[in-house]
Amino acid sequence: MKGIILAGGNGTRLYPMTLATNKQLLHIYDKPMIYYPLSTLMLAGIQDILIISSQDAQPNFEKLLGDGNDLGINISYRQQERPNGIAEAFIIGEEFIGNSPCALILGDNVFHGQGLGKLLSKCAELESGAKIFATWVSDPERYGVVDLDIDGNIKGLIEKPKVAPSNWAIAGLYFFDHNVSSIAKSILPSARGELEILDVIKSYLAGDTLEIQKLGRGYAWLDTGTPESLLEAATFVHTLQQRQGLGICCPEEIALSKGFISLKKFKILAERYSSSDYGKLLNKTIQETST
Ligand code: DAU
Repeated sequence: MKGIILAGGNGTRLYPMTLATNKQLLHIYDKPMIYYPLSTLMLAGIQDILIISSQDAQPNFEKLLGDGNDLGINISYRQQERPNGIAEAFIIGEEFIGNSPCALILGDNVFHGQGLGKLLSKCAELESGAKIFATWVSDPERYGVVDLDIDGNIKGLIEKPKVAPSNWAIAGLYFFDHNVSSIAKSILPSARGELEILDVIKSYLAGDTLEIQKLGRGYAWLDTGTPESLLEAATFVHTLQQRQGLGICCPEEIALSKGFISLKKFKILAERYSSSDYGKLLNKTIQETST
């Protein structure tokens, strides 16, 4: 399974914060936003990752994450000229995807919860069809929404409906088989001029190969597209990390736990940040690993 992080966009809802920088380079509490989707893919066991961003932003992502070697993964980079839609990721990433199944995560989506690693590792075994996640939210109009019949079967998928047919929002994490690039190439831009991710998903729904998993109360799914939601996500991470003393979405820690890097390598990475609170969190992991 390969993985794509879509980290472009203009971030206009965060202006002026994103006038001079890419949204995914802003921080959520103690770490850059892109660490969160990166951690999610790594938790799924994915080690081959493509980051799609803009021409301006790519050098900064490269400065931050390099080729991924420090984390025991491979990171490559491609550019999206302008935000033509989420589904364009599969056209830009066609060569990268090749004949493999591929996960896509949106650069501003944060996932956290007990047993998430196990759940995602299972999803990464997908070889045919598609899998998406739905989460109950109070404001479904902001998202793609699932319309379900009385038996819980999917009747339809609607992007930002004026009147939502349910409170089940579609999270920005999707698993597809290797056909996804040719499907993305076959869809047309929507009325708002974007290649819509929901149109790709609908194609799997029409072929009866779409699986939808509801993420229950034990999982937190946050998106960070507005100042309000960005602050909420930062507060969430801060509160849990302070209370538990455990890191949320620290890629170095996930690399260690997944066996992508050795403890020796992890110690070198933790030492690099030793004067920051982030480094102190990583050092706590070392103490726990050695007890
Ligand atoms: O967060 C989940 C939601 O994400 C889903 O429920 C929706 O179905 C899906 O369309 C998407 O809605 P958003 O309104 O949040 O999408 P937005 O345009 O904000 O883009 C999400 C991320 O993807 C953001 O970090 C920017 C990036 N992006 C987006 C587009 C359209 C790109 O890099 N390129 C693009 O062309």
